[in-house]
Amino acid sequence: MGGGIAQVVAASGRRVSLHDAAPGAVERGLETMRKSLTRLADKGGADPDEVLARVAPAEEIVAADLMIEAVVEDAQVKEAIFRAADAVFPPEAILASNTSSIPITSLAAATGRPDRVIGMHFFNPVPVLKLVEVIRGLDTSDETAAAITTLAVDLGKTPAEARDFPGFVSNRILMPFINEAAYALLEGVAEAEAIDTIATLGFAHPMGPLALADLIGLDTCVAIMEVLHQGLGDPKYAPCPLLRQYVQAGRLGRKSGRGFYTY
Ligand code: 3HC
Repeated sequence: MGGGIAQVVAASGRRVSLHDAAPGAVERGLETMRKSLTRLADKGGADPDEVLARVAPAEEIVAADLMIEAVVEDAQVKEAIFRAADAVFPPEAILASNTSSIPITSLAAATGRPDRVIGMHFFNPVPVLKLVEVIRGLDTSDETAAAITTLAVDLGKTPAEARDFPGFVSNRILMPFINEAAYALLEGVAEAEAIDTIATLGFAHPMGPLALADLIGLDTCVAIMEVLHQGLGDPKYAPCPLLRQYVQAGRLGRKSGRGFYTY
């Protein structure tokens, strides 16, 4: 998602530094961006070379006006990044997280600028989906929320504000849907294809819940459900054992080549 976010920010005319701790990840991100930009250019979008010229790979976290963090859904990893960015970014800069579920308030508490920490949650595939869920932490200022809302509109997105509750709005609704589909598969109610056909044709969803889980990443889905389960304290949010087992097997969805489906 980091690559997708970098792409839409660069396409809006801004310069972006793209940093990833994993070797080769930035290069893979740039390749994905080129493919996506080429598809968009065929439909009258910006010249891919021009957009990519505004994206600079960065060996480490570098100062800017805004950080949009999009690392793994692990509170400790995210907090460490927010702590590191707080030391590097100018005091007036905004530190945003693309988190699906980690509390913004706890990320803000890792910094000395809780008023300038906010959730800016994009949706996969970022260049296509129009929503940005904007989440204020306990101390996020009105100015920060206004700046991020304005930026989202400038990126061609529609912002919608949610409070800092586990899973916010999007994943509080989406994850129980995916989880129930996994249970339907586990209990033999239907095959994966039938479950997804029922959602695509029956509810006019662009893809079924199992294919969508593969797109999001099954490890990410389980991590989000753990946050919902722990944060809301209701057993109905516990991840389906089949999801956990797929993750244990390394079947993470599209990114590993196999999840509910094989890619
Ligand atoms: N970059 C640029 N363009 C893209 C693209 C990309 N990465 N992916 C798809 N497109 C374009 C295609 O070129 C095509 O354009 P056209 O209609 O002008 O020809 C259009 O989007 C549709 O793509 P396809 O024809 O290839 O395939 P689909 O019609 O099946 O669409 C999809 C693919 C956009 C992924 C669609 O299935 C979809 O919207 N699925 C639902 C995705 C969703 O629900 N995402 C939210 C996940 S939750 C999340 O991210 C939050 C997190 O916290 C978990």
